Amino acid sequence: MKTIFKPLFTLATASMMLASCGGPSADSHSSKSASHSGGALSGSMAEKAFVAPGEHDEYYAFISGGFSGQLAVYGLPSGRLFRVIPVFSQDPEKGYGYNEETKPMLMTSHGMIPWGDSHHPDISQTNGELDGRWVFINENNTPRVARISLTSFETEEILEIPNSAGNHSSTFVTENTEYIVAGTRFSIPIPQKDMPISEYKGNFKGALSFISIDPEEGHMDIAFQIIMPGFNFDLAHPGRGKSHGWFFFSSYNTEESNTLMEVNASQNDKDFITAINWKKIEEYIAKGAGKKMPANYAHNTWNDATHTAETVMEKEVLVINPEEVPGAIYFLPTPKSPHGCDVDPTGEYIIGNGKLAAAMTVHSFSKMIKAIDDKAFDGDAYGIPILNFEAINYGTLEQPGLGPLHTEFDTRGNAYTTFFISSEVVKWNVESLEVLDRHPVYYSVGHLMIPGGNSRKPFDKYLVAMNKITKDRYLPTGPEVCQSAQLFDISGDKLELILDFPTIGEPHYAAGCPAELLADKSQKIFKLDENKHPYAVHNEAETKVVREGNEIHISMSMIRSHFSPDNIEGVRVGDKVYFHVTNLEQDYDVPHGISMIGAQTSELLIMPGRTETFIWEPKQVGVWPFYCTDFCSALHQEMQGYVRVSAAGSTTPLTYTLDDEVPGTEEEL
Ligand code: CUA
Repeated sequence: MKTIFKPLFTLATASMMLASCGGPSADSHSSKSASHSGGALSGSMAEKAFVAPGEHDEYYAFISGGFSGQLAVYGLPSGRLFRVIPVFSQDPEKGYGYNEETKPMLMTSHGMIPWGDSHHPDISQTNGELDGRWVFINENNTPRVARISLTSFETEEILEIPNSAGNHSSTFVTENTEYIVAGTRFSIPIPQKDMPISEYKGNFKGALSFISIDPEEGHMDIAFQIIMPGFNFDLAHPGRGKSHGWFFFSSYNTEESNTLMEVNASQNDKDFITAINWKKIEEYIAKGAGKKMPANYAHNTWNDATHTAETVMEKEVLVINPEEVPGAIYFLPTPKSPHGCDVDPTGEYIIGNGKLAAAMTVHSFSKMIKAIDDKAFDGDAYGIPILNFEAINYGTLEQPGLGPLHTEFDTRGNAYTTFFISSEVVKWNVESLEVLDRHPVYYSVGHLMIPGGNSRKPFDKYLVAMNKITKDRYLPTGPEVCQSAQLFDISGDKLELILDFPTIGEPHYAAGCPAELLADKSQKIFKLDENKHPYAVHNEAETKVVREGNEIHISMSMIRSHFSPDNIEGVRVGDKVYFHVTNLEQDYDVPHGISMIGAQTSELLIMPGRTETFIWEPKQVGVWPFYCTDFCSALHQEMQGYVRVSAAGSTTPLTYTLDDEVPGTEEEL
């Protein structure tokens, strides 16, 4: 996509020329301030993004790390990065995917995969409003979805999606978090088999998965998969309000081509948005529709009590063929290779952004229902009725910009659409189809996010544009430059650009919510007396070192500012040494770290009350130190220990001490 970078619009051309001069990029809405030295923003605009030292931001923004595989937490309006939540990729900073407890989170049917491509976060909802319990995010490469707790800000569950490849149209929460979805970007043989690629057409299929969310615990389960024709499913959004119970998926490559896609998948004048009545499908399933198909996919769940993840390989999935559920699936013809597929807060308008179209299509849910009742069909595709375009179309926004991708909404009936090719955000009124404002972005914007934008109650204050190209916006850092988001104030009539901020990875999509929804319930510690990890210690007296053949299990504690034990002897070359380390602290913001020379893994960064494990297989005789990696106190530098490693077969007895005493044998310990 990066090559389609051609300024065709006058406005965009002007902005691009200014930007490429290397000077401050003028903001078209504040030309009088462009003469200020130090940037285009006037003082009052800069103040809008300024959060004074010690003050808190108004909103949380959860911005996908794209090809970093993670999810980053920022504050709005400051754009300050608070935390990177590891999800689909190993994170050596936190030990995620390196320690023994979290490795199972990255298990798949292909084995342990240390990396993922994260895309679309979405926050759980109750009655169509953000409820701040969980944020979900999908992985595109090895199809998976994840659930992250918004109390601990940790990944609690990852579910692999079978019969899929490239989980792009995902996650997107329904209005009571009944489901998230996973629509396959690449169609494949279902079940997978050895066959010629040239026989794609008619034989490859595209699975749309509905993943149910347990209302209490949040556990994810694939409720059913619809086995659709071999299109490429791109994005999705649930209905809400009047259209609650429906889900809409955009698709391209209705041509079903399998080579030189940039040409061959762009032939048809219209592709489809697929409308799925999932409530009706639930009724069919209750009456026995669908069949259980053998499958093999990993379901990884974090256990809060044992502080350990567990993998279960699931062995079947319920699949449904469209012909089994008449009246539940329809095609909405939409020009032309639609990318975004967005539903407004009322649930009436379904926006299809044809990325190759010069116009934007607005479908009407009410007209769609009437067209279904009237059987206003233009034939079918693989038995699925194609609704008549005129019968469902509310209207078209002509020439709003070039390369429309995604739309979000405010509560005042306005939509905000990104235009990749003309590099701008356009504000328009959904009912009147009138363009109200436009603002250039730098550059080639993909998604945008208004906190609550995928709900019945968006918050009309900020809009984050997530850009694909940064070029001259920041100090250069070699060939690879930072990725970037831009923040707009949308509270007035005009879009006001108030901040550029760099992001981790590619800021693919984001979800946001008011700070007060999460801040007060944010977890501070893990309770030590509730720690059921099999190697947890609850005080220094419980610490010990046990040999089982060539495995050594060290049950170690950490507290300001020492480890217990801190001297261990009798380890031999060839041993496999497990460091099971518990942080005994019960105060907020007192993590300790631990790392061991020569350990082929990352450090561990252990929060108060938690137990984590790393493995060390010493290869060399000697006395080897370990130390705390996190600056935890004035005596952090003293927080260290030694392990004596003897030759294989040595008879050095296994001993462990703290201050020359064996832990637990002295009263004061
Ligand atoms: Cu504990 Cu530094």
